[in-house]
Amino acid sequence: MTVLVTGGAGFIGSHLCVSLLKQGHRVVVIDNFNDFYPVVIKRDNARILKEFENCVIHEKDITNEKDVMGIFSRELPECVYHLAACAGVRPSLKQPFLYEKVNVVGTMNILEASRKYGVKKFIFGSSSSVYGEREKVPFREDDLLNNIVSPYAATKAAGEHFCRCYHSLYGLNTIVLRFFTVYGPRQRPEMAVCKFARMIDSGEKITVYGDGTSSRDYTFIDDIVQGLLGCLDADLKFDIINLGEATTIYLSDLVRIIEKHMGMQAKIEYGECQKGDVSRTFADITKARNLIGYDPQVNIEEGVKKFVSWYKSSYSNGIYRGQKSLMKNK
Ligand SMILES: NC(=O)c1ccc[n+]([C@@H]2O[C@H](COP(=O)([O-])OP(=O)(O)OC[C@H]3O[C@@H](n4cnc5c(N)ncnc54)[C@H](O)[C@@H]3O)[C@@H](O)[C@H]2O)c1
Repeated sequence: MTVLVTGGAGFIGSHLCVSLLKQGHRVVVIDNFNDFYPVVIKRDNARILKEFENCVIHEKDITNEKDVMGIFSRELPECVYHLAACAGVRPSLKQPFLYEKVNVVGTMNILEASRKYGVKKFIFGSSSSVYGEREKVPFREDDLLNNIVSPYAATKAAGEHFCRCYHSLYGLNTIVLRFFTVYGPRQRPEMAVCKFARMIDSGEKITVYGDGTSSRDYTFIDDIVQGLLGCLDADLKFDIINLGEATTIYLSDLVRIIEKHMGMQAKIEYGECQKGDVSRTFADITKARNLIGYDPQVNIEEGVKKFVSWYKSSYSNGIYRGQKSLMKNK
């Protein structure tokens, strides 16, 4: 089957593409290789994909409707995974218009092209951030989204609404996946786990925002890919599904686990809570288990161990060198 993956040069996208290619699918990537984080990382992800014969990479921007339509008209994908986005909560406060353009207009372009060129299945990468700040855990897909606290989350919620709209207007079979903080090899370097490992390694101070009691449901990349692939076989019309580990840990405990596996101690300073951040995330994954056979396997202890082992080898390969200066505003 021809599967189109937007954002295929990114963290989650590149892992998904490798798995799809290994399953024998033809994979078409659209990615603009932007410099949100060091492009060398995305180029290296693309290098891995190019080792497979059945992979085509279009270096194009999803906000360009003409380019998107051209690619769909030539490639005629049966299934689309739409993962390209401006990701991350904090930078969205600095660049809300960019987030709106890429995550809303870009998503509409991909939906329009999918409708026009007869895509059979559309899978949208949404985020746990749409749940916003809430006391009640775990987060369930039918919770009301009435407390969104960042432009990023607002654009993801808008994307979900457009997905629902295209399903009801045009019958586009759609699955919206809400990812809960994803980590693992090739992770975005500005995210917790990767960022903390780097800072512990270089002896820099880690700023923990708040008192360390904010908590997250961290999901290992292999589990996310398992959920993404589960969507291919599921016969669903429209559903919203959480993908998390269904557990949650404090930030201070996460730092301790990373320290343990890095074999080094972190220097920690505490800073004020950041606008846009939420206190907790925690996924109810009952729907994922029932509808797409999702069964997460990697707990945080094991996942961090795997991450650190990748980090040590990739760092010494030089892929991450020089990223610090490029990350200064993130
Ligand atoms: N990583 C997480 O913890 C997490 C959590 C929740 C949701 N998500 C969502 O999952 C998806 C993938 O996230 P990721 O962590 O792999 O991020 P990523 O930044 O590594 O991947 C996104 C990719 O999209 C590409 N892209 C961005 N704007 C584009 C544009 N205008 N045109 C074409 N390509 C463009 C980027 O170059 C990048 O390669 C995103 O939609 C993100 O919002 C991620």
